[in-house]
Amino acid sequence: MQQSQFFENALSDPIFRTVSQAAKNLNLESYVIGGYVRDYLLNRGSAKDLDFVAVGSGIELAMEVSQLLPGRPKVSIFKHYGTAMLKFQGLELEFVGARKESYHEDSRNPAVENGTLEDDQNRRDFTVNALALSLDDKQFGKLIDPFNGLQDLKYKILKTPLDPDITYSDDPLRMLRAIRFATQLKFTIEKDSLESIKRNAKRIEIISNERIVEEIHKILMTDVPSIGFTLLHQTGLLPYIFPELIALEGIEEKEGQLHKDNFWHTLEVVDNIAQTTHELWLRWAALLHDIGKAPTKRFDKKNGWTFHGHEFVGSKMVYKLFKRLNMPLNEKMKFVQQMVLMSSRPIVLATEVTDSAVRRLIFDAGEHIDNLMTLCEADITTKNPKRFKKYHDNFKRVREKMVEVEERDHIRNFQPPVSGEEIMETFGLSPSREIGIIKDAIKEAILEGEIPNEYEAAKTFMYRKAKELGLKEVNR
Ligand code: CTP
Repeated sequence: MQQSQFFENALSDPIFRTVSQAAKNLNLESYVIGGYVRDYLLNRGSAKDLDFVAVGSGIELAMEVSQLLPGRPKVSIFKHYGTAMLKFQGLELEFVGARKESYHEDSRNPAVENGTLEDDQNRRDFTVNALALSLDDKQFGKLIDPFNGLQDLKYKILKTPLDPDITYSDDPLRMLRAIRFATQLKFTIEKDSLESIKRNAKRIEIISNERIVEEIHKILMTDVPSIGFTLLHQTGLLPYIFPELIALEGIEEKEGQLHKDNFWHTLEVVDNIAQTTHELWLRWAALLHDIGKAPTKRFDKKNGWTFHGHEFVGSKMVYKLFKRLNMPLNEKMKFVQQMVLMSSRPIVLATEVTDSAVRRLIFDAGEHIDNLMTLCEADITTKNPKRFKKYHDNFKRVREKMVEVEERDHIRNFQPPVSGEEIMETFGLSPSREIGIIKDAIKEAILEGEIPNEYEAAKTFMYRKAKELGLKEVNR
């Protein structure tokens, strides 16, 4: 269908006139294409990443645009890909020459040839991402939509411009992109496309972990991440990315006793936490909080189904999973590990909220105590309204108790009230095991509530403990 609609308002930022002028200077056609056009038409606000196509050299167009901009921003050139990028006033401008790509079965690298705009639109992932607006003076803002992408936007459909087997096989990451867009935009993946993803799932293996993880981050950051994980499951992509999650699926029955399906439970927890936090790594913790349950699952007559130590095993698995996916093994990973490791602590506490248990919880969770409580609250997925209320009420009491205890005892950013130096000076010690023992005993006495978290009380306690160890105060 021939389109002759104009969307000049989409191009009100002066940058588009600049690109238009640059293209005119070089005597070539230029278009803005992809996510910017899609998001404008969906009313999702203006994206900061702008993709331009030149029918000619994208690199030359970028250089010419830079010449016309104040300060002549630096152009980064990716010669290998024939693309160039520049940053200007918070925008990121990407330029590419229109191309035709033909892939060979046995090669991931396309043979790239120069092409027309339509060739370029053909090789894009989805019809809604192939929409282009002309920057030509004479048809500024004209929509070029050879695949009815506008209609697919209206009906919220993700469809590939070419046969999906070709589009997905060309760049298998697009299978994940389909799922990510479906989750982010609440679009439906067209049936043929979905079938094609199922057929091609194995090809995700040729995609780098970094690109995969980027899409997973985006799925996790949506309002309802379970949409994406359900699609990953349905298409058969999930086992290639998260075998640990697949292992949680299923309900076993023994002697009339069932356990819950921890895969579907996990997805509910992720959706719950998406309602209460935008912290990416806390969402990761929700996704992985139960992964230790598959390898620790046991059944015995007395206790029924148990998952003893799943938090510890799970936290070790977090490390392996991050490593396998080439994710950074940094403090973010440690945070996820800590959340997984501690994920049952507040639950145990909820049945009996003692001051000392609360102090220990605050001490162990440190600055992440609020995140831990958020995770535990998200973990409540019971469908029984009475229990749901009871569990939430329990956590409310824990939170209240935490405020009360913290106000009094200041455990959250615990600093030993008596320093190692003071212990050494008082008893004339050089660095030695005794100092650690005394410091630890003081900390334990505070957490147990034997003494308040105060200097004088801690010092008196220090003398007592030192005496037990046979230490004598030196005269100063
Ligand atoms: N594209 C593609 N295949 C890919 C990646 C990108 O065809 N594997 C095309 C699409 O036309 C896409 C455009 O390149 O719209 C820009 O890609 P990118 O910036 O990654 O995505 P956006 O669509 O802009 O969306 P988002 O910013 O949400 O990722």
